[in-house]
Amino acid sequence: MLASILTAVWVVAAGSMLVWGLDYYLLPIPQRAYSSLAPLFAPEGLVGHGLGIVGTAMILVGVVGYGARKRVRLLSRFGALKHWLQVHIFLCTLGPFFVLLHTTFKFGGLVSIAFWSMTIVVASGVFGRYVYVRIPKTLNGRFLDLDAITAQMEALGTQIATRTGLKTAELEMDVALPGAPPTGLLGALGHALAQDMAQRRHARRMRRLLRDHDVPPALRRPILDLAAERHKLRQQTLLLRPFQRLFRYWHVVHLPLAVVMFLVLGVHVVVAVLFGYTWIF
Ligand code: HEM
Ligand code: HEM
Repeated sequence: MLASILTAVWVVAAGSMLVWGLDYYLLPIPQRAYSSLAPLFAPEGLVGHGLGIVGTAMILVGVVGYGARKRVRLLSRFGALKHWLQVHIFLCTLGPFFVLLHTTFKFGGLVSIAFWSMTIVVASGVFGRYVYVRIPKTLNGRFLDLDAITAQMEALGTQIATRTGLKTAELEMDVALPGAPPTGLLGALGHALAQDMAQRRHARRMRRLLRDHDVPPALRRPILDLAAERHKLRQQTLLLRPFQRLFRYWHVVHLPLAVVMFLVLGVHVVVAVLFGYTWIF
């Protein structure tokens, strides 16, 4: 639900700002200075400068907000960590998009280091999220160990068996994994991608199994959800170790580059202010 709202806001906000300044961004660079649109959309123009400031503020709020939620115990009462991560991703993709419009697609000078660090941080974020959501954790983001995951899987299996009358062995057959467990980080990534593609096949087989065992139609939807959850956990146990390792390595890119971005950005802002660019205040 939150994800859909954020996606809709993202598309409308990014789309309208892009369309608004498009005529300016499409002008060849030498002609831009003479355009009547420059006072609005140039990097130091009213809208262009505003996009730089608002975009940067969004990134700051996205990073500080998520970091605070993770570390400040008092904040754990305000929503699940996963929703804060969704907001982190929303702010830290829309913010960079606004910054991109602020640069008017010209990336020169020292500040281009901030721009490219930002771009790599965003791209690495997409990869990091892929890995992160595949590591089972508590509502507060603590990674679960193998015993806890196995216990959850067994509880789900028992629940399905009691509600449908299916034997655990029948369920086991249904979730049997193709191939051997992955070895190495690349093998684990390949395995995760293959699992993603096999998800529908598993749901189809499960539906057939429920039909063949005359499980009442009204019960099938909730059982399918439970089975999907159990299947996901089962697959994740195989990826647990390599993905936890991958996630540790990933932090080595995402975090330091964010720091580089903020440092160079600091210089850029100081220089801009020294040159007398002060936006609306
Ligand atoms: C991650 C954030 C930011 C990045 C990557 C960025 C990047 C850039 C780039 C590449 C340009 C040069 C465009 C050209 O060659 O014409 C530029 C210009 C400018 N930026 Fe930013 N910017 C950021 C944030 C900000 C912020 C927060 C301010 C507010 C003080 C700001 C103020 C300016 C101004 C006034 C200019 C035009 C004058 C100049 O070129 O120095 N920028 N920015
Ligand atoms: C300029 C953009 C971004 C910056 C500066 C940024 C910065 C950061 C920082 C500093 C952290 C560490 C938070 C902490 O532990 O306190 C973090 C975590 C994270 N970010 Fe980003 N991020 C950006 C964009 C993204 C994007 C676009 C995504 C995903 C599509 C993403 C996904 C994540 C994930 C999955 C975590 C790890 C969560 C965890 O360890 O609890 N980030 N980010």
